Amino acid sequence: MKRKVIIDCDPGIDDSLALMLALSMDELEVLGITIVCGNSPVEMGFENAKKVLKQMNRLDIPVFQGADQPLKRDYVNALDTHGADGLGESFLEAVPGYEQKKNAVEFLEEALIQGGCSVIALGPMTNLARLIRVNPHAFELTEEIVSMGGNYKSHGNCSPVAEYNYWADPDAAALVYETAWEMQKKIHMVGLDVTRQIVLTPDLLEYMKRLQPQTGSFVQAITKFYFDFHWKQEHLIGCVINDPLAVAYFADRSLCSGFEAYTAIETGGISIGQTVVDAMHFYQKEPNSVILTEVDALRFFTAFFGKVLGINPEKPDLLPALVRYGTNLPCSREQGEK
Ligand code: RIB
Ligand code: CA
Repeated sequence: MKRKVIIDCDPGIDDSLALMLALSMDELEVLGITIVCGNSPVEMGFENAKKVLKQMNRLDIPVFQGADQPLKRDYVNALDTHGADGLGESFLEAVPGYEQKKNAVEFLEEALIQGGCSVIALGPMTNLARLIRVNPHAFELTEEIVSMGGNYKSHGNCSPVAEYNYWADPDAAALVYETAWEMQKKIHMVGLDVTRQIVLTPDLLEYMKRLQPQTGSFVQAITKFYFDFHWKQEHLIGCVINDPLAVAYFADRSLCSGFEAYTAIETGGISIGQTVVDAMHFYQKEPNSVILTEVDALRFFTAFFGKVLGINPEKPDLLPALVRYGTNLPCSREQGEK
């Protein structure tokens, strides 16, 4: 049985890799893609999502523009990390069409109120927060929410304590987590504690190009800028691809492990955007989150290569090559990446 899902994202380089993975997974039925301002302004993210859909030959998937600014904070993009076009300065040809018949929140509301549909949130949570404001019942009926965002014990990438998606719109993240608590729902938080272990290395990229030249070349085109950013920012050879792990985890829970806790997001002051995980139950509040702390990076890359490249993961040389080419690389702990 395919699992119905909406991907809310801010493409964005790693969002694009996440979309490629989701659209390669037979076990997922992607009902639509909703765009939120984040890495890129929402209009740019909308255009970038279409470029990825064209690459995947999936222009049948609807895309909807959402929030163009956070609930309260001024909007801060991450184009320093994702390039002037938000897609690694690949400057891919624009894809026409997709005139807007409805906005992201309207689409989310219509789809989620039916029940049986989940959300994978890969950007700031502004669209989800706006959905809660217009129709909390639709949010309540969401089957599952997996969020790439936040950090438990891993340092932030926008401040010592804050991860970009929750830092860019802390009020939205705070509302989503608090509403989840009120509704006895749990947000699966795929945070920096696990995503920092998912490093696409030059060898792994080269291996992708050898196995599937067209797809590998596309991935290279959109990640070159990201590789350069990671070298400049933290002298890492490779790039942390956060968002695809959220998609892989949604499809296969066994990839990550962690614990349930009550979690809140700080909305002001020096630690704005901090994920406050009550692992020791100080607040005596029921859990509203599953905080993921361990990941099997080799199994992630096996799934990622298998699905995105369309090759049999049991392929005899895939696993040894993934190990040989650099899976499970320790990534730098000095700086952040987003
Ligand atoms: O902090 C990493 C997250 O912020 C990723 O989702 C990246 O795409 C940016 O949105
Ligand atoms: Ca993202």
